[in-house]
Order: sequence, then structure tokens, then C-alpha cells
Amino acid sequence: MGRGRVDGEGPMGAAGRRHYLMCPPTFYTVAYEINPWMHADQATDTALAVRQWQRLREVYRDLGHTVETIDPLPGLPDMVYAANGALVVDGVVYSAKFRHPQRQPEGPAYQAWFDDRGYRTHTAQHVNEGEGDILVAGRTVLAGTGFRTTRAAHDELRALLTATSGADAPEVVGLELVDPRYYHLDTALTVLRDDEIAYHPDAFSPATQALLADRYPDAVEVGADDAAVLGLNAVSDGQHVVMTPAATRFADQLRERGYTPVPVATSELLKGGGGAKCCTLEIRPAP
Ligand code: ARG
Repeated sequence: MGRGRVDGEGPMGAAGRRHYLMCPPTFYTVAYEINPWMHADQATDTALAVRQWQRLREVYRDLGHTVETIDPLPGLPDMVYAANGALVVDGVVYSAKFRHPQRQPEGPAYQAWFDDRGYRTHTAQHVNEGEGDILVAGRTVLAGTGFRTTRAAHDELRALLTATSGADAPEVVGLELVDPRYYHLDTALTVLRDDEIAYHPDAFSPATQALLADRYPDAVEVGADDAAVLGLNAVSDGQHVVMTPAATRFADQLRERGYTPVPVATSELLKGGGGAKCCTLEIRPAP
């Protein structure tokens, strides 16, 4: 899959217009350590984080996407990682319920943003970290577990989607993460198109590796070097893949398949353990 794109398509081409929610890193810093990337004794440059974040938002808008923003809250330095704030699929919002107490107020903050705008929201009963661990690939929802999001949350989401979309509900597929550096699914797997993914196999348990190989035999397999710079924390609109410039081999693999890598530096946000995807929550369907 993923080949055979029509030559000469315009910049939007096969790509769809997307609707994203982002949170400016006004209060960004590394004040605690809840993943192996974070070192509270290492200095952070909030102004640089803001500039990198603004550039990321500008790139999305230049690509034709809509970007909304949520107001950051003081005392919540990780709120910039909007992907963790919720999962929005088929117009319903499944709220985040964070594992670590330091991030727990972010769940209600993001849910309130959606409530205020008239979205149908569901308050999660089980620990889940939104799109950080739950990625949508067409009518398949890939749901990570192992470090943050629980299997019970996968079940809760499955029930919610069935109640929302009945027989058309997407299938929820659980994937087990095993390497603490890849603590969220979106650090180890990128959805490129509805039917095509890229992932770093070693981040997953043997059973999950077998499951992914079976479902996605043509997936892009990303090597250790590109994974270790969070190359997979990327955002695809079906054509353009917004990603760290450091994942050079992955960018070549994408070009070989007809995608257009769009490098955006997120080095400052990497100190908290995130990249472009972490900063980007997709709202589906785009209104
Ligand atoms: N410091 C944050 C945490 O450990 C980073 C979250 C990154 N977000 C993501 N979608 N992977 O929770």
C-alpha cells in the first residue's frame, strides 16, 4: 500500500485537510521525571520551545490544515503535549485520565475545551493518555498499553465507539509496548494513511510484533537510530509527514514510498519526551 499515488497532484493531492488542536508551551519546562527522556536537572529553554511550536503550527497551516489552540495552564508544563489530552473519533471525545498525578489536571482541562464547544464528551473511568497511546488508522484504532494506557481503557473505548457508531464502529486493536523509551504508542508507530503505518518493531512485545506483521505486511519498518530520535513521533496527512529532521533514514524510506517528509525541529520539546505528534491532537471528523 501507499504506492501508486498520481503524479502531478497538487500540494494537497491525496492529502486530506486535517483539524488539529495544539497548546502553546508557555509554561513548558522539565519539572519532574515520568519518562526516560526527562531530566529535571537539565536546563530547558521555554522561549525556544515556543518558537519551535509556533513553526510547527505555521507548517500545518501552510499545508492547509486548521489549527485551534487551547489555553495553557500554569503548573502543567506537559500540557503542550496536546496529543495526550483526549481521543476524538467519529465526533465523540474520550477524555484522558493520566497515570501520573503531575498530569492529572490536564484531562479535565482538555475535556472542558471540548465541552465548551459542544462536542459530545465521555469522561474516562480508566487510565488512558489519549492520542499518545491511541492512534486511528482508517476504521482501525490502534491502542497501546504497557506503560500508561490500560487494557481496561481499551475495553471502555471499544464500548464507547460501539455505542456511538454501532456496527460501523472502528475495531480497537491492543498493542503492547515493552521499551520504556517508547512509553506511548505515538513514540513507536506512525499512521501514514488509513491503510499504511510505520513502526519500530523492537518497541513491541513479540506477540504484538507478530500481530503488526500480519495486519500490515507492507509497513515501513523503522530502525533503532531513527526511533531513538523520536522519528516516529510524526504527523501524516496522507501525503506530507511532519517529523524531526534528525530521522534521516526514515525520511528516505518515506520518499521511496511517495510521501513528502516535512522536517520541523522540535529539539526543545524532546527534553520532555515528545516531538511533533505529541504536540498535535487530531479532531475527527474535521468540521
Ligand atoms: N512528558 C510527557 C509525559 O511523559 C511527554 C508526553 C509526550 N506525548 C506523547 N504524545 N507521546 O507524559
